Amino acid sequence: MDNKKLYRIAKESIKNSYAPFSNFRVGAALLTKDGKIFTGVNVENSSYGATICAERTACVKAVSEGYREFEKIAIVSSEGEAFPCGICRQFLYEFAPKLMVITGNDEDNLVAKGLSELLPEGFKL
Ligand code: THU
Repeated sequence: MDNKKLYRIAKESIKNSYAPFSNFRVGAALLTKDGKIFTGVNVENSSYGATICAERTACVKAVSEGYREFEKIAIVSSEGEAFPCGICRQFLYEFAPKLMVITGNDEDNLVAKGLSELLPEGFKL
């Protein structure tokens, strides 16, 4: 699965984002080691703190379906490039400290960074 294709899937998923409070819509596509893709969107809540980010939605969907090994995640927002927030970095680190994170303003201008670069010395019990 190439980065462009994964990015396109993330972008397509934005249509399902529920972001009536921030209007900042995010889509993510998480690729497992065996080639399965789980999408996720941000799901906001009237109690703002209950909001879940797109990256964690994708990860929770995968783990709850029995997938724990991940290769890459593509993320895109309604505003273009979107790197994961600190909580999502730590959340993804639990399962995939070597994850590749892909984002960008469009599919011809993608940025790819390792989670180890985005979250040096992540926490693990
Ligand atoms: N958001 C994500 O979905 N992923 C991130 O990594 C950053 C923030 C969402 C949460 C909220 O719905 C909106 O973006 C604005 O913070």
